[in-house]
Amino acid sequence: MIPFVDPKLHYKRLRKQILNKIDDTLGRGDLILRSQLAQFEKHIAKLVGTKYAIGVNSGYDALHMAVQAAGLGPNDEVITVAHTFVASISAIANHGATPILIDVGQDYNMNMDLLEATITPKTKAIMPVHLNGRICDMDRLMDIAKKHNLVVIEDAAQALGAKFKNKMAGSFGLAGCFSFYPFKMLGACGDAGIVTTNDPEVARKITLLRYNGEDRVARKFVYHGYTALLDNVQAAILDLKLKYFTKWISRRREIAKIYQKGLANVGDLQLPHWPDKRYFDVYQNYVIRTKRRDVLVKYLGKNGVEIIISWPEPIYQHQVLQPNNYRLSETEAICREVVSLPMNTEISQNQVRNIIKYIREFFSKSRGTE
Ligand SMILES: Cc1ncc(COP(=O)(O)O)c(C=O)c1O
Repeated sequence: MIPFVDPKLHYKRLRKQILNKIDDTLGRGDLILRSQLAQFEKHIAKLVGTKYAIGVNSGYDALHMAVQAAGLGPNDEVITVAHTFVASISAIANHGATPILIDVGQDYNMNMDLLEATITPKTKAIMPVHLNGRICDMDRLMDIAKKHNLVVIEDAAQALGAKFKNKMAGSFGLAGCFSFYPFKMLGACGDAGIVTTNDPEVARKITLLRYNGEDRVARKFVYHGYTALLDNVQAAILDLKLKYFTKWISRRREIAKIYQKGLANVGDLQLPHWPDKRYFDVYQNYVIRTKRRDVLVKYLGKNGVEIIISWPEPIYQHQVLQPNNYRLSETEAICREVVSLPMNTEISQNQVRNIIKYIREFFSKSRGTE
């Protein structure tokens, strides 16, 4: 069995340090809004290259509070992509704004050729989603946003550490939103997230919104807020893991290279490598694409390889979310053709080689049989 992720092994390797961190934090009685959270926020802001980082309790919370802090609401349109996790879209819809979904390009990210034509007088913001650890073309996106005076909120949930022209995901727009869901590259022990920003007003508002909307110095309630803090213990553990983050990214890039070498010119496989030096990809997911996806998935399953399909159905086909009759051809083809292979820092060289072997076997066995 080759698991898609291996949280047990991940924990085993860090067990002593994690337990020490928890013990130290709880032993001090540091539960809510203490130095461990402030330290972690400082370190993330430094990594991303923003003035502020505000810890919250999920990537969704990061997104929806960023939407709220940007003042988006009823009668506003926010352009994002259809090929994303539901949270990007819910974060917009839950504030009464209208998500306008556009198609993606070959690299699974927003197709910038479609962006400008989608802008209407109601458009107030763009939410690019940096999917799978690859950032969007931020030159084109920021140019269009500037030209039309639009707010940019980056869904960087899958892209901590990803860069475009040496600038980090989450540092381009008004706000960057990250998730520390356990299976993200930097994973907590449960839900967790953070917002990055250079804007003091956005930072202030999210800092208040995340904890009951209260100005705790003045002892005044200034917004209807939430209970959505990043827990102190979680922050302490994340801060510990952050020390390994650069090493973990290198390992992911190494694994991606092994996949790339082993799977080059196999069947109709398309691999997630696009030769453009402006991008630094961190491979949150290693997504391959083939017209024979469903049979390949069965074959891998039979051989004990666990995979994930993100996502088997376009988001707009879920009735509750469908604000429009979308037909986005690339998004729909991707739903039929992609599969994510195991990609994590626990996987062994041997396991990666075996996955490659099974995939090669699948394509060579089935050659000429269709
Ligand atoms: C692209 C994207 N956006 C938003 C989220 C939401 O993050 P969370 O699960 O931490 O709420 C995720 C994570 O699952 C994601 O992958």
